Order: sequence, then structure tokens, then C-alpha cells
Amino acid sequence: MLSRLIYFSEERDVGVHGVLRILDEARAGNKAEEITGVLAFDRRWFLQCLEGSRDAVTRKFLAIARDQRHGGVTLVAFEDVSERLFPGWSMGAVDVGTLGRGPFDPPAMTASAALETLHSLRAAGATM
Ligand SMILES: Cc1cc2nc3c(=O)[nH]c(=O)nc-3n(C[C@H](O)[C@H](O)[C@H](O)COP(=O)(O)O)c2cc1C
Repeated sequence: MLSRLIYFSEERDVGVHGVLRILDEARAGNKAEEITGVLAFDRRWFLQCLEGSRDAVTRKFLAIARDQRHGGVTLVAFEDVSERLFPGWSMGAVDVGTLGRGPFDPPAMTASAALETLHSLRAAGATM
């Protein structure tokens, strides 16, 4: 069963280098599990989508939620999907701050708004 999970969280003193390190870990950790997705961030928030088997995504999310580099981990969506929205990306990255958009406020987003935001950010400037 292919599933998609979206959550947001608040960064804890991560900084730009810290985010790069997280992305390295994410890409390495996800390849083995055939998980793909995207991580959007600014200086305050993370908004992440994980896609893969229901099992793998559940286990990965539980591990990520325990990570001390963020807090207030909040599940936004978990659903079965017929195809991946971010295929081929072990973890795409979008620094929302560099896109010159309006406020990035994940707690205010509905599940569909969060998905739409990640999708449009992907088009706007995500990197693999
Ligand atoms: C915001 C955030 C996103 C993360 N995303 C992933 C991810 O997609 N895949 C992953 O393997 N680890 C991710 N990590 C790192 C994990 O929490 C964990 O540190 C890493 O998988 C190594 O865990 P291990 O030492 O238990 O293997 C993320 C961490 C944070 C803070």
C-alpha cells in the first residue's frame, strides 16, 4: 500500500548547516526504504511530505518525530495514494525564504493546502 504523510514541526536551533545535514541524513535514510518526498523550511518551520509503503513511512515518521532538532511535530495528513507526487526524490528541499513568497505558516494550513503548497514549491524552486 502506497501512502503519503505530511507533518509540520518547529525547528530547534538548526540553522542552514543543520538543515543541510538533515537533508544528507534524510536522503541516505530514505533510499534504503524507497521513501521519496520533499522538505520545505524557513528559519522557523519544517513542512515535510514522505511517500512510500505504509510500513516504511510509518516507521520513518516515528523516528523523525523523536529527533531533538525539532519539536511540536504535528501530523497533517496520512492517506493511501495511487502514485507518488515527488517520484525520484529521496528528499527534495525548498528553502521557502529564498522564494520571496508570502508568509509560510504551516499550522494554518489544511491538509489539502499543505499538499498544494508543497506541490507548488516543488515547481518554484526545489532542488534534489
Ligand atoms: C525535520 C527533519 C526531517 C527529517 N527527515 C528525514 C527523512 O526524510 N529520512 C530520514 O531517514 N531521516 C530524516 N531525518 C533524520 C532522522 O530524524 C534521523 O536522525 C536519521 O534518520 C538517523 O536516524 P538513526 O541514527 O536512528 O538511523 C529528519 C530529521 C529532521 C529533524
